[in-house]
Amino acid sequence: MTYDPSTDGAQMDFQRRMSYGDYLQIDRLLSAQLPLSSAHDEMLFIVQHQTSELWMKLALFELDAARARIASDNTPEALKMLTRIARIFEQLNSAWDVLRTMTPWEYSQFRDDLGQSSGFQSWQYRAIEYAVGNRNPTMLRPHAHRPEIMAKLEAELARPSLYDEVLRRIFRLGLPVPEAVLSRDTSQPWQMDEGVLTAWAEVYRDPARHWEAYELAEKLVDFEDYFRRWRFNHVTTVERVIGFKRGTGGTGGVSYLRRMLEVELFPELWRVRTAL
Ligand code: HEM
Repeated sequence: MTYDPSTDGAQMDFQRRMSYGDYLQIDRLLSAQLPLSSAHDEMLFIVQHQTSELWMKLALFELDAARARIASDNTPEALKMLTRIARIFEQLNSAWDVLRTMTPWEYSQFRDDLGQSSGFQSWQYRAIEYAVGNRNPTMLRPHAHRPEIMAKLEAELARPSLYDEVLRRIFRLGLPVPEAVLSRDTSQPWQMDEGVLTAWAEVYRDPARHWEAYELAEKLVDFEDYFRRWRFNHVTTVERVIGFKRGTGGTGGVSYLRRMLEVELFPELWRVRTAL
C-alpha cells in the first residue's frame, strides 16, 4: 500500500487555495535561469550567482534594520540581526564548494558568452559595502545606465554607515568618540582614527563595564571575519578557474581581487587587539 499523506490531513486541492508556488512566486523564480550557451556548467554558474544575490538581498534587509535599531538605541534587536547577517555570509562561503566543482575547461565553454558582465557590477554587493562603511564612490559608475539603481546606491551613501551608527551609539553610551568623527561627512570613505581606537581600547580593557559596546564590537568583527572569508574564497575560486587571466569585467582579475582582500571595514576593531 502506498502512503497517502492526505489521510493524515495533507491538503491536496489548490484550485481555490494559495499554494506554496503561489506564495513564493516559484514560477517567476524558476523562469529566470536562461543560459546563453549549450555548456552544461552554465546552469551551475547562473544558479550560484542568483542564489548569492538572494542571500545578499536578505543581508541588505537585515543590515538596514540593524542600523536603524542601533540609531534608536535598540541594541539587543540589532545584535540578533547582525548574528543573522554573519550566518548569511557563512552560507555564502559554503556555496563556493559547489562552484569549485567547475573546472577551467568547463568554464571556458561559456565564458565568452558572458561578454563584459561580471560580479563587479553587482549593485547589491556594492550596497552591502556602502552600508557597512566601505564607501568608494567610483564604484557607482557601472550603474550610470540604470538611474533607479544609481538612486538606491546614492541613497545608501547619503545614510550614515553601520559603523558610523555604532560609533554614535557608543558615544551615547559615554565612550570618548572624537567630535570630528561624530560630525564627519559620512558619505566619504572611513579613515582609520586614533581617537576611535582609544575608545575601543577602553571597551576591550573592561568589557564588563562596557558590555553593550563590547557586544556590538564583537558582532562587527564577526561579520568582517566572514566577509573576509567570502573574499578569500572568491579569489581562490577565481584563480583555480581562470588563473591570472583578466576578468570579464575588465580588471586584472586575481590581482584586483587580491587588492580587495586588503580592504578593512572596521580597522580600529582589528588594531585594538594589538593595543591591548
Ligand atoms: C567561476 C566563477 C567566478 C569567476 C571566474 C569570477 C571572477 C571574477 C573576477 C575576475 C572579478 C573581478 C572583476 C572583473 O574584472 O571581472 C570578480 C568580481 C566579483 N565577483 Fe566574481 N567570479 C566568479 C564567481 C562569482 C560568484 C558566484 C559571485 C557571487 C555573487 C561573484 C561575485 C563577484 C563580486 C561581488 C565581484 C566584485 C568584487 C569587488 O569589487 O570587490 N563572483 N569576479
